[in-house]
Amino acid sequence: MFIGHIALPNRLFAAPMAGVTDRPFRQLCKRLGAGYAVSEMVTSRRDLWTSLKTSRRANHDGEVAPIAVQIAGTDAQMMGEAAAYNIDRGAQIIDINMGCPAKKVCNKWAGSALMQDEPLALEIVEAVVAACAPRNVPVTLKMRTGWCEAERNALRIARAAEAAGVAMVTVHGRTREQGYKGHAEYDTVAAVKAALRIPVCANGDIDSPERARDVLVRTGADAIMIGRAAQGRPWIFREIAHFLATGEHLAPPATLQAKAWLLEHLNDHYALYGEYAGVRSARKHIGWAVRALPCGEEFRARMNQLETCDEQVRAVGDWFDALADEHPLLPRASAAANDPLVEPVDTDSMISPSEQQA
Ligand SMILES: Cc1cc2nc3c(=O)[nH]c(=O)nc-3n(C[C@H](O)[C@H](O)[C@H](O)COP(=O)(O)O)c2cc1C
Repeated sequence: MFIGHIALPNRLFAAPMAGVTDRPFRQLCKRLGAGYAVSEMVTSRRDLWTSLKTSRRANHDGEVAPIAVQIAGTDAQMMGEAAAYNIDRGAQIIDINMGCPAKKVCNKWAGSALMQDEPLALEIVEAVVAACAPRNVPVTLKMRTGWCEAERNALRIARAAEAAGVAMVTVHGRTREQGYKGHAEYDTVAAVKAALRIPVCANGDIDSPERARDVLVRTGADAIMIGRAAQGRPWIFREIAHFLATGEHLAPPATLQAKAWLLEHLNDHYALYGEYAGVRSARKHIGWAVRALPCGEEFRARMNQLETCDEQVRAVGDWFDALADEHPLLPRASAAANDPLVEPVDTDSMISPSEQQA
């Protein structure tokens, strides 16, 4: 699997998720089987590049290559400049966001709203490719199937993007209008794959090894991208890899192994965000990790009261130790309690308050 000239270890990708797929989470996903992980979107607005939020998003210290940065914006020239800026800070692949449905982004005519304005979308693609090509950095495009049911133009945009020099297209099998409701459809993804020569990645509702296999077969896609199902369960990548290679299910991880991964993640997380912000933003990751485990909800409520890294680490460690006494292997989550596909999208985390006012 290649994106442009860049070889990837496999075709299992971690999706960009604002407020989730920061560097520590991407690193964990890559360690647990993801061949590729895309950063949270970074705004194209120059005046926000030095903000704490954007500079954290542009931090790639120690990240396993290839480093892929997603940029979002509405102005072609600014998007080209944002691509160059991120390349100077370590990006090896630039991904253009045409998939994000958040209102605050769409009101500013970015994200999936761009699919409604094909000339502007293409202008942005061309400007970003023009900025990246001299630096030998491939450009990828992430989009939805279209703006709405009646206007599924993914195929047209994908063709134009390929002609403009894009190296890979990812399609989330929903329209912008759908948000995260309903089910992803894969026929449009299959049509895009059939029409393009560059690699195509399928995305949407992939939450199990069987679904991964089925989506690959159904769409013929070169790769699959997983978002919500990796929240609290980043080892889903190696579970899928094992299943695709052998047709067998990998045993669940040892409970103490899951604890070790989570503690490692927390320590990386605190190192990036510091104690105050780190403890708070770690709560969602801990919550996702425990929500469907026995007494997980009770623990989540208690853990949310803790204010320091030490307390949080100790509480997580003790809770998993007690769980391991009864369950040496991590209990399988109940589908109802752990259905990531009904998780509400945290649109506020997608863009900072200052970005929202823009
Ligand atoms: C909390 C959250 C934040 C997201 N942020 C982004 C983003 O910044 N850029 C983007 O292209 N897509 C974003 N997405 C969409 C995902 O990348 C993915 O396309 C979508 O969740 C469908 O995949 P899934 O069913 O595997 O979760 C986000 C999704 C979630 C749930």
